[in-house]
Amino acid sequence: MTTTAAWGAPAATATLEPFSIDRRALRDEDVAIDIAFCGVCHSDLHAARNDWGRTNYPFVPGHEIVGTVSAVGSGVTTFQPGDRVAVGTIVDSCRHCDACEDHEEQYCRKGVTGTYNAKDRIDGSPTFGGYSKSIVVAEPYVLRVPEALDMARAAPLLCAGITTYSPLKNWNVGPGTKVGVIGLGGLGHMGVKFAAALGAEVTIITTSPAKGEDAKALGATHVLVSTDKDAMKTARASFDFLLDTIPVAHDVTPYLTLLDRQGTLCIVGAIDMLPSFHSALLLGGQKAVAGSGVGGIAQTQEMLDLCATQGIHAECEVIAMSGINAAFARMEKADVKYRFVIDMATL
Ligand SMILES: NC(=O)c1ccc[n+]([C@@H]2O[C@H](COP(=O)([O-])OP(=O)(O)OC[C@H]3O[C@@H](n4cnc5c(N)ncnc54)[C@H](OP(=O)(O)O)[C@@H]3O)[C@@H](O)[C@H]2O)c1
Ligand SMILES: [Zn+2]
Ligand SMILES: [Zn+2]
Repeated sequence: MTTTAAWGAPAATATLEPFSIDRRALRDEDVAIDIAFCGVCHSDLHAARNDWGRTNYPFVPGHEIVGTVSAVGSGVTTFQPGDRVAVGTIVDSCRHCDACEDHEEQYCRKGVTGTYNAKDRIDGSPTFGGYSKSIVVAEPYVLRVPEALDMARAAPLLCAGITTYSPLKNWNVGPGTKVGVIGLGGLGHMGVKFAAALGAEVTIITTSPAKGEDAKALGATHVLVSTDKDAMKTARASFDFLLDTIPVAHDVTPYLTLLDRQGTLCIVGAIDMLPSFHSALLLGGQKAVAGSGVGGIAQTQEMLDLCATQGIHAECEVIAMSGINAAFARMEKADVKYRFVIDMATL
């Protein structure tokens, strides 16, 4: 066991503080990683303050981890000390069910082991996230960071990236698809980049008109301000696919009216009860409301490799570990351009 420095929440509060945690001694299949950067996902904030009612304390957030291998267990074959690696939201799963065999570990029938706030499948110890100096993860759940990717700007790909890439691929977004990305934050800005890279015509649907110019630089062709009733009316029935990244419960009705015939609204943001809506919004035009959760390990590697070859990376504001509470406060006000990334050298 190794003791490592970390920042976390001792109780249901959004204020994080320094403490130390234990990382397990290496098992045969384990990879020990010195963490260089960790992205700040809105889920970290939700979990820290127990918005979902199932956080165990003490709690250490962080599931957008990049770093360097420091040691490997005796059975590890694909990594060696010095390799640039990453860890996302998943550190284990049952490995045998149909979902795991289909490389969709995030939907494991026996429940996935999250990078934080879960229990290790072997010894039951709590999992702690990447707001820390080091982590130990089983080889099948470790990703490789291609040389072409900047380490800091790669970190957000591990959650914001894969959570938006996976549904865009699943719903075959490509040339000719009219895509609306709702919410221009961590997930949203990656959604815009990937949808544009896949050849779609992209609109950012935002509550923040000031983000409009940035959205165009990220790859959006149009900007729709969701609080502008006239603009929303004009945009009715004009989208094939809407990616909804709003982090809180919200009425989906205004967005369903934007869908064209056979269009889909895919929710990846709010993990919450949503207000009801009229079924006629779906029946008229064979529309669907869907959801999507992160992505599997193989697809995450595919996305990292694609980012390396196409020069796609997150737009980041690198912060010191001690700046996390201020970053959480800004994230709550939708004041993020477009992902905070913690430099672990400051811990
Ligand atoms: N499905 C999954 O597997 C998965 C994975 C990761 C995260 N998540 C969830 O996804 C959500 C988004 O995460 P994130 O890290 O992208 O958050 P974020 O960086 O805070 O961005 C969310 C954006 O949504 C918009 N927004 C915020 N409050 C809003 C409101 N009340 N009404 C309308 N729009 C609002 C804002 O964009 P504008 O200023 O442009 O309006 C904001 O920047 C979180 O709830 C997180 O827990 C889910
Ligand atoms: Zn996340
Ligand atoms: Zn499984």
